[in-house]
Amino acid sequence: MDEIFTRTSVRDYRPDPVEPEKVELILRAAMQAPSARNQQAWEFVVVDDRGLIEGLSTASPYAGPVGRAPMAVVVMGDRDRMTVPQMWEQDLGACTENLMLEARHLGLGTVWIGIAPVQDRMDRISDLLGLPGNMMPFCIVAVGYPREEPVPHASRYDPSRVHRNGF
Ligand SMILES: Cc1cc2nc3c(=O)[nH]c(=O)nc-3n(C[C@H](O)[C@H](O)[C@H](O)COP(=O)(O)O)c2cc1C
Repeated sequence: MDEIFTRTSVRDYRPDPVEPEKVELILRAAMQAPSARNQQAWEFVVVDDRGLIEGLSTASPYAGPVGRAPMAVVVMGDRDRMTVPQMWEQDLGACTENLMLEARHLGLGTVWIGIAPVQDRMDRISDLLGLPGNMMPFCIVAVGYPREEPVPHASRYDPSRVHRNGF
């Protein structure tokens, strides 16, 4: 699957807006992810308001790339819908990766900005977006057309990391 091997983090974007059909497709991919007991306890805020984008770009010391993107998706867990709460971060990780791979498939660039479990980053996003208390910000994915065509990374495959029938 080419998208897995050609995806790279993209931190600089053209200003062109992302078409609504593509936004829907990346969200469809996100929601198609596996989750513990199929709990699907995810929610998303699509942000394309410039003021809010700027706000998100200061949600962590490493969120600067969000400020260069035309839009971002805030991926959140809904505490009230978690039937297997201890698995929520794994679920949302799978969901986020799906979103990023579909974005790559559509010619879009993304970068994952880590938020949970750092409480002050989560609080900043909750305040900025006016989230209810059950909404747990997990990460931000900046999305946009890459300013330069990304160059795929060299292979990271390392057979010495693979162990058979024990370590
Ligand atoms: C959990 C997680 C948190 C990350 N947080 C940030 C971040 O805050 N800012 C950033 O620019 N990149 C962030 N990244 C992107 C990584 O730096 C990037 O995936 C890694 O360097 C490998 O590069 P690649 O994505 O181009 O393969 C994060 C990635 C993950 C999986």
